[in-house]
Amino acid sequence: MSKTTDAVPEIGSIEPNQHGYRSFTLGAFRFDRDEYFTHVAWPKGHHMLPVDAFLRALQRDIAWGFFYGIVNFDAVIGTMNHYGSVDLFAGRFNDHYRRAGLDHSERFTTPLIQRVFEAMLDDWTNAGFDPFASPQETGSAFGPKHGSNKEAITRHRVTAKRMIAAPGDEPLRTDDNGFPVNRHFHDVPQDKPDVRAEPGFEDEVVAFNLFAYLSRSDVTWNPSIVSVCKASLYCPTTEEYILPVIHGNDRVEWFVQLSDEIQWEVEDRDTGAVRARVTMKAGDVAAMPADIRHRGFSPKRSMLLVWENASPELPALYASGKMPPTPVQF
Ligand code: PHB
Ligand code: FE
Repeated sequence: MSKTTDAVPEIGSIEPNQHGYRSFTLGAFRFDRDEYFTHVAWPKGHHMLPVDAFLRALQRDIAWGFFYGIVNFDAVIGTMNHYGSVDLFAGRFNDHYRRAGLDHSERFTTPLIQRVFEAMLDDWTNAGFDPFASPQETGSAFGPKHGSNKEAITRHRVTAKRMIAAPGDEPLRTDDNGFPVNRHFHDVPQDKPDVRAEPGFEDEVVAFNLFAYLSRSDVTWNPSIVSVCKASLYCPTTEEYILPVIHGNDRVEWFVQLSDEIQWEVEDRDTGAVRARVTMKAGDVAAMPADIRHRGFSPKRSMLLVWENASPELPALYASGKMPPTPVQF
């Protein structure tokens, strides 16, 4: 389907269901929640996801502005970013749904799908559950509706324009502004770099301790932009448990494992066929190809640098085959 819907929708049923939750519609899609599950229905099918996993994925899809390429919530449901509009799909990147003709996809303007997703996240997140936190560091998502957690779900991630700590850019997370060192990072040195600038350049030479900065991150699987050089974005993040989305790339993406270990499941972006299992230990570097999707597993909190090339022309270059999907041909 290629129709783009921008009509102001009824954002959701006014009356809560017997569990206390509102239902939401987007085009022909309908979303309901009960005590344990999110139910998604479309004209030719329906699907269930655990609600904690659904809210973790929904939170990130919203916070990242639908990210680069595809955000699969699981093997069936997800979004594809067209940078101005977004496809909501069911079974679109699942070989079996495709062959059976049970997949469905609809395009919405970004502000519309954003609004409905935000309303759903707000209504379905109970008091005590933080979708950005690791499972050990948050309460339960389950049960009948009880309260809300606006503070957690409206967090803004750091998006530097030059480099954090540079004049006019984002402040650092230090003890002073209330972010404690995470329980898994007590061994990370907190010393500050010794900067000796030539006289007259004191405002232009900036350095910060990235490990100390990351040791105080209160969220998981949420890259923040700490430096920008033209289209080159350094997006480090701290990871624990499972990446809540299966990310389908529309460009090459580099990973630098800064500490501990993450294992990645790498699949074909379009069919979901397994392609590789990558174990990354501290110091390992990987280039994730432009035609895959991946999900990370981090047994303990770890530090990962995601290096993105934000050039807007990249998706078309890869899609047209003008650029190979890997930076190196073996
Ligand atoms: C990714 O899909 O590349 C990704 C997303 C979030 C992270 C790390 C990697 O925290
Ligand atoms: Fe990715």
